[in-house]
Amino acid sequence: MLPHRMPPGRIVAALNGALLLLSPLASAQDIGRGERLARTWCANCHVVDRNPAEAGATGVPTFPALAAKPGQTSEKLRAAMNPRHSRMPDLQLSKQQQDDLVAYILSLRPKR
Ligand code: HEC
Repeated sequence: MLPHRMPPGRIVAALNGALLLLSPLASAQDIGRGERLARTWCANCHVVDRNPAEAGATGVPTFPALAAKPGQTSEKLRAAMNPRHSRMPDLQLSKQQQDDLVAYILSLRPKR
């Protein structure tokens, strides 16, 4: 007899527990926080919606377009937010805010 045989319900509970344990790792970069930041700080110039009704008229790249750019990486996005390397205004973003924004932008990547 197996003393530690788990009933199926316990296995599901254990798996849920494992997922909960993983979620703090994911929150280091928070897509939801990044989206709120984008709406607050970036939407003046960029189209930041996941499914934009129309492309921006200003010629400023939309966030989905940035995400879909071939060879796009979090490093390049981070560099673009650094005013020393672009024509972007200095928004004084913290490292955490940049991480969240990068996570949000990359979440807009088209599904393959
Ligand atoms: C005042 C207008 C303005 C605001 C606000 C703004 N941007 Fe931009 N952004 C631009 C312009 C203009 C460009 C095109 C820059 C260029 O081609 O050098 C750009 C380009 C970019 C690029 C891409 C650069 C590339 O690789 O082509 C990224 C990434 C970016 N912005 C992120 C952001 C994020 C994130 C925010 C909000 C925190 C933001 N921007 C807010 C004007 C703005």
